[in-house]
Amino acid sequence: MDTNTKYLGLEIKSPIIAGSCGLTNDISKLEQLEAAGAGAVIIKSVFEEQIIYDIKRNLSMMAPTDNYGMSYEYIASHVADDSLGKHFELIKEAKKRLHIPVVGSINCYSFENWMTYTQRFQDAGCDALELNMAILPYETTLSCEDVDRLFSDIINTLRKSVSIPISIKVSQNFTDMANFMQRLSWMNVNGITMFNKALNVDVDTDKMELTHAPSLSSPDEIYNTLRWVAILSKKLRCDISASTGVHTADDVVKMLLAGAGTVQVVSCLYKNGVEYMRTLNDGLRDWMNKKGYESIEQFRGKLAAKANEQSSMLYRTQFMKHFAQI
Ligand SMILES: Cc1cc2nc3c(=O)[nH]c(=O)nc-3n(C[C@H](O)[C@H](O)[C@H](O)COP(=O)(O)O)c2cc1C
Repeated sequence: MDTNTKYLGLEIKSPIIAGSCGLTNDISKLEQLEAAGAGAVIIKSVFEEQIIYDIKRNLSMMAPTDNYGMSYEYIASHVADDSLGKHFELIKEAKKRLHIPVVGSINCYSFENWMTYTQRFQDAGCDALELNMAILPYETTLSCEDVDRLFSDIINTLRKSVSIPISIKVSQNFTDMANFMQRLSWMNVNGITMFNKALNVDVDTDKMELTHAPSLSSPDEIYNTLRWVAILSKKLRCDISASTGVHTADDVVKMLLAGAGTVQVVSCLYKNGVEYMRTLNDGLRDWMNKKGYESIEQFRGKLAAKANEQSSMLYRTQFMKHFAQI
């Protein structure tokens, strides 16, 4: 029996991938993840805000009399090089030491910087790139059409300038989720990661101020991801990498049955340590053994909605069975 599969066209030994987070920002953790059977690792994202912050900090350290007006471009590009340089050193080191695919991750908010930084990830030697396009429709001025245009402009332009496989990591908030995911999959991307987990806001009632809710996912967050993977896996033209709420080997199996190509894990690694990657892989093999499966392809997508199935009817039936006991 083997758990070999493909991720963004790359051969991998396990469908379980370490998702982008603080744990994938450290070479010794990356090595431990590989030793524990991770199929691939997605390095912690570079956020455009981080680079801009470094640029501003450097400019503020200059004497107020310094005239940096003319040299702003030069300083900004030097600082950006320095910030990204440290990140690229990690990618280069990971490529030297690991045998599994090393995937870069980037999150920008300005169109120009998506272009500038993405090309440099390719030059740094990443096997593939996950674009963390967690664009949330927070602004009342932002319409569905605006979000649509932003995605297609970025993807179409990047696709022309980068030849390595690209995956788009999306948030859970779209009015036309199924339709939009299908259109994304037609845009010549190699995969879609469903979903990024937005940091939730909470309120401290004592201090009467806004704070943030726990950043780790809880196990019941799997259901939203599972629903969309099952509905869409046979309707998209690219692979789905399932993310958010996967905490056990049984969860990994559920996602594969729903049709995910690969399954990303983060919170369960924070909770149980990176060695937990081994427990997940052992659990997947135990389940396959128990069910008599020799390969992932023998059971992947068995419980996915069919390509021509009307998902709304399917879910309406489930709903009626449960709540109306029909
Ligand atoms: C501490 C922490 C740091 C994270 N950093 C990143 C990041 O840099 N880039 C990114 O795309 N996602 C990041 N994520 C989101 C995860 O990759 C993942 O999408 C999310 O945690 C849901 O998966 P999970 O339920 O397995 O935790 C981070 C999550 C956590 C908890």
